[in-house]
Amino acid sequence: MSEHLLEERTGAVLTLTMHRPEKKNALTRDMYGAMAAAISAAEDDDSVRALIIRGSAECFTSGNDVGDFLNAPASGPESPVYKFLKAICHATKPLIAAVNGPAVGVGTTMLLHCDLVYVAENARLKMPFVNLGLCPEAGSSFLLPRLLGHPRTAELLLLGEEISGARAVEFGLANQALPAGQAVFDAALTAARRIAEQPPGSIRLTKQLIKRGVADVASQVMDQEGEYFSRLLGGAEAREALAAFMEKRKPVFN
Ligand code: COA
Repeated sequence: MSEHLLEERTGAVLTLTMHRPEKKNALTRDMYGAMAAAISAAEDDDSVRALIIRGSAECFTSGNDVGDFLNAPASGPESPVYKFLKAICHATKPLIAAVNGPAVGVGTTMLLHCDLVYVAENARLKMPFVNLGLCPEAGSSFLLPRLLGHPRTAELLLLGEEISGARAVEFGLANQALPAGQAVFDAALTAARRIAEQPPGSIRLTKQLIKRGVADVASQVMDQEGEYFSRLLGGAEAREALAAFMEKRKPVFN
C-alpha cells in the first residue's frame, strides 16, 4: 500500500493512478512496491480483466524519484523497482496506459510493456538517461530499436530528445493522441471496458502469443541493464547530474 498510489475498480477494470502531485508523481520505492503488488494481486483475481496505469491530467510521472536515486539506490531481485518492471513485463492481463503531461524516464519505458497506450497530443515523453549519467532500463535498449529502428532510438536515447504525444504515435510508441486531459482517460477506459467484455481465455492466449519471445528477451536485457545502471548510479557523472537536478543548477561534467 502507498498513499501515493490510488486503486479504483470500475467493473472488471482496475485503474492504478500515480498520485504524488507535489513531486510530479515521481516514483518512490513505496510506489513501485504498491504497483507491483497491485498488478500481482490483479493477476490472481479472475474478476479483473484489464488494468489502466495513469497519472493526473497534468502529469503522468516525472520518473524515478531523484532523491531515492541519490540516497538509497535500490536494485536486484528484491527491490521494488525490479518487482514492478518484472510485473509489467510478464503481466498476462492487458495493460493500458493513459498519459497526460510529462512521462520521464521509467514514465516512458513502462509504456513499452503496455498493450495499448493513449496519450495527450501535447504529452512530453523523454528518457534522459544519458543526460543523468545513466543508461536505459526496463528492457528499453532492446524494445526501442525493435519498435523504432536505430536512428529514432538514438535520437531518444543518445540525445535524450523529448517527443510529443503526437510524435509518439507517429513513432509507434502509442496508439492514439487525443486532446489533453479527460479525453485521454476516457479513451483508456473505453478500450479497457471493450477488452473486459471479451472472452478472458482468448484475450490471455492472444496476449501470450503476440508477446511470445519478446517478454523473455526483454526480461533478460532488463537484468543486464540493471547491472550497468546500478554501476553508473554510483559513479561521479550520475552523482553530479542528480545533485544538479536537486539543487536546480546545470550539471558540470569534468
Ligand atoms: N524526483 C524527485 N523530485 C522531482 C522529480 C523526480 N523525478 N521530478 C520533479 N520533482 C520535484 C521538483 O524537484 C520540484 O520539487 P520542489 O517543488 O520541492 O522544488 C517539484 O517536483 C516540481 O517539479 P518542477 O521541475 O518544478 O516541475 P515542472 O512542471 O517545471 O517540470 C518535469 C516537470 C517532470 C518536466 C521536471 O520536474 C523534470 O524533468 N523532472 C526530472 C525528472 C527526471 O530526471 N527523472 C529521472 C528520470 S531517469
